[in-house]
Amino acid sequence: MSKKIGWGILGCGKIAKKMAADLRLVADADLRFVAARQPQHAVAFAREFNVPNAGDYFDLVTRPDVDVIYVATPHGLHDEHVKLCLENGKAVLCEKAFTINARQAQELMALAKTRGLFLMEAFWTRFLPHYEKAREVITTLGDIRYVQAEFGFKPTPPVADRIYNPALGGGSLLDIGVYPVFLALDVLGKPDEIAAVMTPATTGVDEQCAIRFQYANGALAQLFSSFSVNLATGADIAGTHGRLRLTHRFHGPTARLEYYPGPVDTRQFIETERAQGNGYEYEARHVTQCLQRGLSESPVRPLRDTLLLMETLDAIRKQMGLVYPADRI
Ligand SMILES: NC(=O)c1ccc[n+]([C@@H]2O[C@H](COP(=O)([O-])OP(=O)(O)OC[C@H]3O[C@@H](n4cnc5c(N)ncnc54)[C@H](OP(=O)(O)O)[C@@H]3O)[C@@H](O)[C@H]2O)c1
Repeated sequence: MSKKIGWGILGCGKIAKKMAADLRLVADADLRFVAARQPQHAVAFAREFNVPNAGDYFDLVTRPDVDVIYVATPHGLHDEHVKLCLENGKAVLCEKAFTINARQAQELMALAKTRGLFLMEAFWTRFLPHYEKAREVITTLGDIRYVQAEFGFKPTPPVADRIYNPALGGGSLLDIGVYPVFLALDVLGKPDEIAAVMTPATTGVDEQCAIRFQYANGALAQLFSSFSVNLATGADIAGTHGRLRLTHRFHGPTARLEYYPGPVDTRQFIETERAQGNGYEYEARHVTQCLQRGLSESPVRPLRDTLLLMETLDAIRKQMGLVYPADRI
C-alpha cells in the first residue's frame, strides 16, 4: 500500500477553496491542516471542507503530520511564506506567480536544495489533459512560426487588494500574463529578443501589457494581458503544417482544442479528458506521487522552467519600466 501524503494549505482565500475541493479527488492525498492569519477564519474554512485541523501559519508549518504545504497567498508574499515552510522542513507547492522576481525564486530554490526538500510552482496548466494533448499535437505542426495568446478580464467589484497593490505583486503580467508567457516559452523556448509595453494603473502596476518575443529562426510570439477588457483568452500555435487553437480560457480545463491542417474551413475538434474537479487535482496528484517516490523536484515542471519564466518576466518588466518594492531589496 502506498504512503498517504499529509497536505496543508497556507492562506484560506479563493484559490485555496478550489484546491481544498480538488484534493478530495486525489488518492493518497490527505488534507490535514488549513491555516489563515486569523485562526478563526481557518476554522470556518476547515468546517466547510471537512479538514480535521486549523490554525495560524506557524501552527501549520510545525505540524509533524503535514508533509507538503500548498502556498495560496498573493504572490508578493510567496517568498516569505515558502521560506517559512522550507525552514520548518516542509515540501512546498507554491501558486503562480512563483515569486516577484528571479532573485527571490533562486533563493527559494537554493534553500530547498540545501534542505533536500521538494519545491514546485503550481502551474496547473502544465498538468491538464487538454494541455498534455496540445503538446503532442504541436509536435506535428512542422516549424512553429507564430504563437499568439491573450488573457484579459475586467475584475468585478469588490476588486481584491492584490490585483493592483505593488507590495503584493499586483498588475496583469504576474497575475494572468504569466499564462501567455508560459505558453510561448513552452512552445518556442527562451526568446532571443523581448519587447514589451504597458498601460499603467494608478498604482503604477500594469493595467495591461503587450509583449513580443523574437527568435533567431524567425519565429515570433505576441502575448497580451489585461485587467481593462474582457477578452477571448485563447491561444494559437501556428506551424508550417497546421495550426492549433486553444479556445476560451486556454490555460484551464474548459478549453477546447481546434486543429486546422489548412485554412479556417479545415477545422477539426480534438477531444480530451474532462476534469472531474476544478482542474487542480492533476498537479496535486503529481506532487503527491513525486513525494511518494522521494523526489525533490518535479520532472514535469522542473525548477529550471520556473526560473526561466521568472527571468523572462523580469526582462519584460525591465522593458516596461515596472519595478516592485521587492526589486529594491
Ligand atoms: N492557478 C490558478 O488558477 C490561480 C487562480 C487564482 C489565483 N491564483 C494565485 O493564487 C494566489 C492567491 O490568489 P487568490 O485569488 O486566492 O487570492 P485571495 O482570495 O485574495 O487570497 C489570498 C489569501 O492570502 C492570505 N493573505 C496573507 N497575507 C495577506 C495579505 N497581506 N493580503 C491579502 N491576503 C493575504 C489571505 O488568507 P488568510 O487571511 O486566510 O490567511 C487571503 O485569503 C495568487 O498568487 C494568485 O496569482 C492562481
